Amino acid sequence: MEVVIAPGPVLAGLAADAVERLLTDRPDAVLGLATGSSPLPVYDELARRHAEHGLSFARARAFLLDEYVGLPADHPQRYRQVIDTELVSRVDLAPGAVHGPDGLADDVPAACAAYEQAIVDAGGVDLQILGIGSDGHIGFNEPGSSLASRTRIKTLTSQTREDNARFFGGDVAGVPTHCLTQGLATIMAARHVVLIAQGRGKAQAVQKLVEGPVSARWPATVLQLHPHVTVLLDDAAAVRLQLADHYRETYANKPAWQGL
Ligand code: GLP
Repeated sequence: MEVVIAPGPVLAGLAADAVERLLTDRPDAVLGLATGSSPLPVYDELARRHAEHGLSFARARAFLLDEYVGLPADHPQRYRQVIDTELVSRVDLAPGAVHGPDGLADDVPAACAAYEQAIVDAGGVDLQILGIGSDGHIGFNEPGSSLASRTRIKTLTSQTREDNARFFGGDVAGVPTHCLTQGLATIMAARHVVLIAQGRGKAQAVQKLVEGPVSARWPATVLQLHPHVTVLLDDAAAVRLQLADHYRETYANKPAWQGL
């Protein structure tokens, strides 16, 4: 696990660099896309590189991490809608190349199994962009999630619904109670995971993620078992890390030839 502590705009640039390098090497790469506010500066930077430098997503494919259950297809907070607004409409990703769990499926287990199969059929996710919830969730894998879980329905914690109420006009009651999410084992199958966290509200979850014991209590800790994870933090999100100085020194002395 590599920990990089830097100002927000630098973090977004580093994540965008990783995406750009991947697409340059492999134009038909498979991206894992996260919603929430953390990745938005990364999508802004990718859209800028597309507009100004011709970074192309034309042959790329993408899979979303998660989706609310029951939001109408045209609801602006449906994650499929959010990702269209924040990224797909601003680059040349083909709309048909972007997939998400079907939060309106009648047969939920079948839809989840089909989603897992679609990821496998695409060859797996090359680079997964991730945020982290203040309760340590990744995707919507709330505390108690099986570390071996696959795409399935989950109940959101009241903490997460309160955190996300800001996207629903501040109305917690408007936030769906259930979601479909890639499981922790699904996320772990991505070849490179780039997690971005900013702000003091993430500091405890980040400390557990990087330095805590691996436990379903803090689902993001499963990433300690992944061979290629990059954790991008601003100073506020890193404030509780016991070895912050070590991570800073390590990154400052990183060999120039080593990418993320
Ligand atoms: C949301 C999403 C996650 C996201 C997390 C943090 O509920 N399902 O994918 O990483 O919570 O969101 P934010 O980046 O807005 O803090």
